[in-house]
Amino acid sequence: MPTKTARKPSKTATKTAKKKAHKTTGKSPPTALLEKQHRKVEGIFRKLEGGRADPGPLVTELANDLAGHMAIEQDIYYPAVKKVDPSLVLESYEEHSIAELALKRLLATSPKHESFKARVTALKELIQHHVEEEEGDLFPQVDKKLDEETLATLGEQMKARFARVVAAGFEAAVPDTYEETSADLSKQ
Ligand SMILES: [Fe+2]
Ligand SMILES: [Fe+2]
Repeated sequence: MPTKTARKPSKTATKTAKKKAHKTTGKSPPTALLEKQHRKVEGIFRKLEGGRADPGPLVTELANDLAGHMAIEQDIYYPAVKKVDPSLVLESYEEHSIAELALKRLLATSPKHESFKARVTALKELIQHHVEEEEGDLFPQVDKKLDEETLATLGEQMKARFARVVAAGFEAAVPDTYEETSADLSKQ
């Protein structure tokens, strides 16, 4: 593991870090949880695109993490926050569906296939766009409009469900077809 060189932080850096810490603690439990999961998925994409790690286990980890993340948003978070911005939430379900189909295609692709990396990148870009809308638009609206107690309860439910879905795995969480997606089923 590379060692980090100890460096005294500049005054500006300390100020920025404090501001950042304040901002982080100001986020609701659901926002903090979902954003942490977004960062983890971005890390997996970086490793996959870097091409140095074994892609097999990384794709499995990505699929399980995304299955858990999509499940807690679709089944718990989105229904609870839909009234805040109905059209944005409906768009989110659609973006989940498209990402899930792209993820299925990736899971069915050998890392040796000439399009493997292209499928990784296409999925990453779909998710990137979606994450930008959630973090830049939906989450801030929700944190402003829902009361603290509701947000705290949501956070607890989402955390517990995420662990269960990840443990069961991607295949248990999504339908075994390209005809419908877990987002479609969540809305029924
Ligand atoms: Fe989402
Ligand atoms: Fe998300």
